[in-house]
Amino acid sequence: MTNNAQSVPLMLLLNASPRPAGRVARWLAAIESAARADGFCTETLRVADLSVQPCRGCMACRQSGRCVLPADDAQRTLAILKEADALVVGTPCYWGNVPGQLKVLLDRMVYGMMGESRRAVPVPLMQGKRAAVVATCSTPWPFNRWFRQSSGAVRALREVFRWSGIRLVATVERGGRQPARPLSSREEARCRRVVRKLHPHR
Ligand SMILES: Cc1cc2nc3c(=O)[nH]c(=O)nc-3n(C[C@H](O)[C@H](O)[C@H](O)COP(=O)(O)O)c2cc1C
Repeated sequence: MTNNAQSVPLMLLLNASPRPAGRVARWLAAIESAARADGFCTETLRVADLSVQPCRGCMACRQSGRCVLPADDAQRTLAILKEADALVVGTPCYWGNVPGQLKVLLDRMVYGMMGESRRAVPVPLMQGKRAAVVATCSTPWPFNRWFRQSSGAVRALREVFRWSGIRLVATVERGGRQPARPLSSREEARCRRVVRKLHPHR
């Protein structure tokens, strides 16, 4: 994966589900395929496959702009995100939030996504990028929203995007216990609409 040609937009897709053939994986595969058809260069990372040490909370990165921990997949993911025009995060809802592995990854990337002024005012470092979220959960609609289940995962990511300067342009929430299955043609059309909103040249 490289994005050599300036005109070819890059999309990073993060799959926060540890299930390789789960519901999130199916949505992301459909979005990736729609993105390629729309001219994106894509890279999908499964968060569960990454090796990422948890943040130590030393706050040294706020001054230095570097992480004190030995290089691991957090720095690698951050480097790809810096190059990317669009980010798609697919996440199952765990306890009304995102899975811990994704939270650990986002914590480790904070210094590259949000800086701080001398007075500790947040400085967004990812401006110009667009994002979409796909959140699944077992709580059926409309309770997945009323009780902030899939919506809880979306809320957590909205916070990250807001302070990083990333524009959240689309959210897909799917509740219910149905097993992972191929997307319907309606759902595939939804994926194409999400991709169009993510395209930097539109
Ligand atoms: C540890 C764990 C916690 C979960 N917590 C919730 C929850 O709080 N609310 C909910 O509706 N579903 C919860 N679920 C169900 C998942 O969100 C649901 O099965 C999801 O669609 C899985 O997506 P996947 O197939 O891509 O892995 C939980 C599942 C696990 C394994």
